[in-house]
Amino acid sequence: MHDTLFEPFQIKTTKLKNRLTMAPLYLGYAGEGGTVSPLLLEHYRRMAASGVAMVVVENATVDHPTGSGSNRTIRADTDDNLDGLKRLAETIQAEGALACLQINHGGRFAGAAPEPAAPSAVETFGRTPHALTESEIGAIQDRFAEAAKRVRDAGFDMVELHGGTGYLISQFVSPRTNKRTDGYGGSLENRSRFPLETLARVRAAVGDFPVGYRFLADEWMPDGLTLDESTRFAKMLAPAGIDYISVMGGTYESFFLPEIVEGSKNQGYMTDLSAAVKKAVDVPVIAAGRLDTGKAAENVILEGKADLIGLARPLWADPDWPRKIGEGREGEIIHCDPECDACMKLVMKGKPAFCVRWPHEKMREMKDMFE
Ligand SMILES: Cc1cc2nc3c(=O)[nH]c(=O)nc-3n(C[C@H](O)[C@H](O)[C@H](O)COP(=O)(O)O)c2cc1C
Repeated sequence: MHDTLFEPFQIKTTKLKNRLTMAPLYLGYAGEGGTVSPLLLEHYRRMAASGVAMVVVENATVDHPTGSGSNRTIRADTDDNLDGLKRLAETIQAEGALACLQINHGGRFAGAAPEPAAPSAVETFGRTPHALTESEIGAIQDRFAEAAKRVRDAGFDMVELHGGTGYLISQFVSPRTNKRTDGYGGSLENRSRFPLETLARVRAAVGDFPVGYRFLADEWMPDGLTLDESTRFAKMLAPAGIDYISVMGGTYESFFLPEIVEGSKNQGYMTDLSAAVKKAVDVPVIAAGRLDTGKAAENVILEGKADLIGLARPLWADPDWPRKIGEGREGEIIHCDPECDACMKLVMKGKPAFCVRWPHEKMREMKDMFE
């Protein structure tokens, strides 16, 4: 059933066995201090065993604590975590999936930072970050390059730069959060300089290792980044050496606006964004956002709105999603409830998230592993 979803695909020279990927989903399962915990390993083992071609592991910090979302953000900034990262990559690959790790600097949304830093001193939920100096900017770009190399050395198949969710990279691109008057601010070209320079440093560090990019296509804020500018940015990014673009919309400042909450309940609510980006670039594009039926997911590919499907909550709610679709047992899928935002609310409170749709036994098993 829905055979298109099970056709192979290629990113650069890396073969994907089908069109399904896990989109990054931070759930607070890493150990205190960002270590690779037994629960984290078991979670990703289950995600990889689902039959998706590639698992993109949740955001890992390039700079702790200044760039970390929380104290349970996986650390990719230190060789002390290299063995854990190796185990994570091996665990995913042993189940037949490719392993990709997303690397991130939280900037003004770095919840673990004693003093957050950002392109400009724009107030963020009651705290005002300090505006980065040019030498601090260069140091962060080096941190991205070092982390990307660590991801490669740990045995992952790909690395993804987190340019979404309103984190640091996208803070530079956004006219709302980048008020700089130097070469990193002002025109779209200047605002694009930070991600493009970061990519160049990452590329220099990892050679031809595949590098993807989580892409903020629309901030969904009146004075924020819009699709018009982001597609122009995509045209600069794609030829600069990115191997895929994974499209998303919104930031922590827009996710909870009433009209965004409503819109985000709709199936395929971000596919207009992925379609626009796909038109603008000739690298593979991943679409995500409530693509939770075989038909909805397959249509995205058939209609040319993306090349690959990103499943975050649907796969977490039911890791048998791909198998049930493939075997024509779609009616048995346990669906993520669009009215439920418990996972997002829990992780934002610094708590681990366990899906309320899970059977009781599984819930107990996973909770017991939390340390
Ligand atoms: C609890 C939660 C954590 C998330 N963590 C990440 C993350 O670490 N990195 C990222 O790029 N997106 C993250 N996302 C966004 C998802 O990758 C995805 O774009 C979004 O959930 C829509 O897809 P879905 O309907 O398949 O879940 C997160 C979303 C949720 C709800």
